[in-house]
Amino acid sequence: MFRTLTLVSLLNLVLPTFSSPCAVFDASFNLYVLGLGGKDWNAGTQESWTSGTAADATVSGRPPFDGTNTTCYLAQFYNAIYVMNGDASKPSDVHIFNVGSKSWSTQSVTTGTFDPSSFNAILDHDTNVFYALSKGELFFLDMGSLITANSSAVSWVDVEKSPFGDSYDPVMALAQNHVHFLDVPGTPAGDANIFVIHFSFFQPDPQSYPVSGGSTFPATHGQTASFFQTSGVQQEFAFIPDDGSATYVINVETNTTQALAGPSTKDAGATYAASITALVQLDSAGAVSFLPYTEGDASTNSQAKWSSVANVAAAVPAGSTSSSSSASASGSKGATSTHGASATGSGASSSGSASPTGGASSGSNSLAVNIFSLGLVAVGSVGFIASLI
Ligand SMILES: *[C@@H]1O[C@H](CO)[C@@H](O)[C@H](O)[C@H]1NC(C)=O
Ligand SMILES: *[C@@H]1O[C@H](CO)[C@@H](O)[C@H](O)[C@H]1NC(C)=O
Ligand SMILES: *[C@@H]1O[C@H](CO)[C@@H](O)[C@H](O)[C@H]1NC(C)=O
Repeated sequence: MFRTLTLVSLLNLVLPTFSSPCAVFDASFNLYVLGLGGKDWNAGTQESWTSGTAADATVSGRPPFDGTNTTCYLAQFYNAIYVMNGDASKPSDVHIFNVGSKSWSTQSVTTGTFDPSSFNAILDHDTNVFYALSKGELFFLDMGSLITANSSAVSWVDVEKSPFGDSYDPVMALAQNHVHFLDVPGTPAGDANIFVIHFSFFQPDPQSYPVSGGSTFPATHGQTASFFQTSGVQQEFAFIPDDGSATYVINVETNTTQALAGPSTKDAGATYAASITALVQLDSAGAVSFLPYTEGDASTNSQAKWSSVANVAAAVPAGSTSSSSSASASGSKGATSTHGASATGSGASSSGSASPTGGASSGSNSLAVNIFSLGLVAVGSVGFIASLI
């Protein structure tokens, strides 16, 4: 008992705060992976992803990326990246990366009744306003034209109760100034419910987006990412069900869906970002991969395959970013077996919370190594203490 308690408390002393990185593009479609291995990385544009090493883009003023469910958004007009839940100690803050000046600032936000620990949001392209669904309530947050934080706080505003019920776990995507909600209770597979931003209006009937050949995307939980255009609003978004069985691309102009290859890593905890020509997956182990995409070319897309964003892997090997989060579960020998245990990433949560399933959140690369060695020191100390008594 003494031995177990001692080991657990020693490990608790050295375990890191779990981090949750995010993938996001800038307006020139350089891929950023922020908060991965304790740093921010610029993987460059798509042609540079498969070789070399991503550039370290870490600069001062950045959020610690120790929050849960950290999300990142591109304000394309302003070439600004907004980060939510980037700082566990201040979950309501929005951190702003001004891509042009490569500088961070922190926007304070008044939450009112909005709960920053439980929501899903899109950033509306044209108005630069966030829309978020939290516990059945729709809110907005107007970012104006912010590329650096304003000294006055911005405020979440309660719009109205959604018609979807309080227990709906939102799957949201933006296209054509319409917020699309998938997996709404009672809505059939292949259909989406729509909130029209400009009229602040929930359409009463869902819209159908059939896959050619007669199939549909499933009515299930998943992740989304909207493809950008060179200018103007998004017209298509990807939907990746939690089981990773396929990638669906929904086109709200043609009201159709393409069914494309599912990601190689099936990971309900993965998050996604899209440019004009690629969909990117950041899995819970910190590995980044992409599916090339050609707007308007269904036959090319149907042949497309997922590949590693190798220059990020070269900068931060995925296994080394996983935290030894299950080390406290058992103690002896735990330190070795948990190191890098999350390579498969199956079912792990993107929240990076210390789940007993092991794994998967991305701590600092060097930190993970340190934790690993400290873990061994801890195990060694316990052995030493145990041998004394
Ligand atoms: C993170 O998101 C998941 C899925 O939406 C949710 O269940 C969980 O409560 C969130 N965690 C926190 C701390 O907000
Ligand atoms: C920023 O602050 C200025 C001056 O206080 C104000 O006029 C402006 O509306 C603010 N911008 C946003 C987006 O809140
Ligand atoms: C897509 O559906 C909307 C809503 O039903 C409709 O107004 C629009 O004409 C449809 N577009 C096409 C190309 O069928």
